[in-house]
Amino acid sequence: MKVLVIGAQGQLGQCLIPRLDGYEVVAASRSELDLSKVTNIVPYIKDISPQYVINLSAYTAVDKAESEVELAHTINEHAVASIAQACRDIDCPLLHVSTDFVFGGDKSEPYAVDAACQPIGAYGKSKWAGEQAIARYKPQGSIIIRTAWLYSDVGANFMLSMLRLMNQRDKLGIVSDQIGTPTSAHSLARIIVRFLQQGGNGIYHWTDAGVASWYDFAVAIYEEGLVRGLVPPGVSIAPITTAEYPTPASRPAFSVLDKSRTYDAVQAPKIHWREELRQVLDRLADNS
Ligand SMILES: NC(=O)c1ccc[n+]([C@@H]2O[C@H](COP(=O)([O-])OP(=O)(O)OC[C@H]3O[C@@H](n4cnc5c(N)ncnc54)[C@H](OP(=O)(O)O)[C@@H]3O)[C@@H](O)[C@H]2O)c1
Repeated sequence: MKVLVIGAQGQLGQCLIPRLDGYEVVAASRSELDLSKVTNIVPYIKDISPQYVINLSAYTAVDKAESEVELAHTINEHAVASIAQACRDIDCPLLHVSTDFVFGGDKSEPYAVDAACQPIGAYGKSKWAGEQAIARYKPQGSIIIRTAWLYSDVGANFMLSMLRLMNQRDKLGIVSDQIGTPTSAHSLARIIVRFLQQGGNGIYHWTDAGVASWYDFAVAIYEEGLVRGLVPPGVSIAPITTAEYPTPASRPAFSVLDKSRTYDAVQAPKIHWREELRQVLDRLADNS
C-alpha cells in the first residue's frame, strides 16, 4: 500500500516512519510540499496518488500562533482542507492528528470525543478549524486522532527542554495547575499503525494512561533521568502557578482525554505515562 506521510520530519513523523516497514512510504517534508503554498497541495497529492494519507504536519508554535494567527490557520486549517479535498477526490483514507487544545479546559473529568470544543488560544482555534474542514470535505474515510503533551527522544518537546534546563540550573519552577497526560510520540505512532491496519472513522483520542501536572511530569523526568545519568544530582524543582509563569497563549487548565473509543476500536493497551517515559529515557540513554 502506498502511504503518503505529510510532516514526516516532525517529532511524530520521526517516530512513525521507522514503524511503516512493509508499506511503500512517500515521506513528505517541507522541502517536498510547503503547506503554506496551499494551491500546490491538491495537485501534489493527486500526482503521488497514494492509497492512504497520514497528516502529521502542523503549525505547532502555541505561543507564536497568538501573533501569527493567519499563518497558523493557513497550515492548520486551509492546508488541511486541501489535503481533505484531495483525499476525497481520489477516494483515499485520511488520518489526521489534532490536539487537546480544542477543549477549553474548564471540566474536571476526561473529555469525550463528542465533548464541545471551545479552544481558548489561536493554535487551538486553528486546529479545531482544521477538524471542521475534514468533517466538511472528507466526512467518510477519515480518522482524526486528538492527542496531548507529546514528547520523545527526538524533536522539540518538554522532556528534552527539561533535561537541558536540569543540566544548566539547580532550581526550576514548573507549573502545577495545568493537568493533562504526558504522551510518548512512540506510543502514538504505534496507535497510528494500528489504525492504518484496522481502519476507523471519525474522532478518536489518544494519550498514555494516567494524569499529571507539568510539575509532576518534570519531577518524573528528573527522577528517571537521574537513575540513567542524564541529569546531575541536586536540582530542586518547585511547583508554581500558571499566573506565576505567564505565556502569550492561554492553555487549558484540564485536558485529560477519554480514550475509551480508541481502546475499543484498535484494542490499544493502557500503558501509564511514567512507564512510557522510562522507555523514552532508556532510548535516549542508549543513544547518548
Ligand atoms: N507536540 C505536542 O505536544 C502536541 C500535542 C497535541 C497535538 N499535537 C499534534 O500532533 C501532531 C504532530 O506534532 P509534532 O509534535 O510532531 O509537531 P512538530 O515536531 O512541530 O512537527 C510538525 C511538522 O509540520 C511541519 N510543517 C509546519 N509548517 C509546514 C509547512 N508550511 N510546510 C510543510 N510542513 C510544515 C514541520 O516542518 P518543519 O520541520 O520543516 O518545520 C514539522 O515537520 C501535530 O498535528 C500537532 O498539532 C502535538
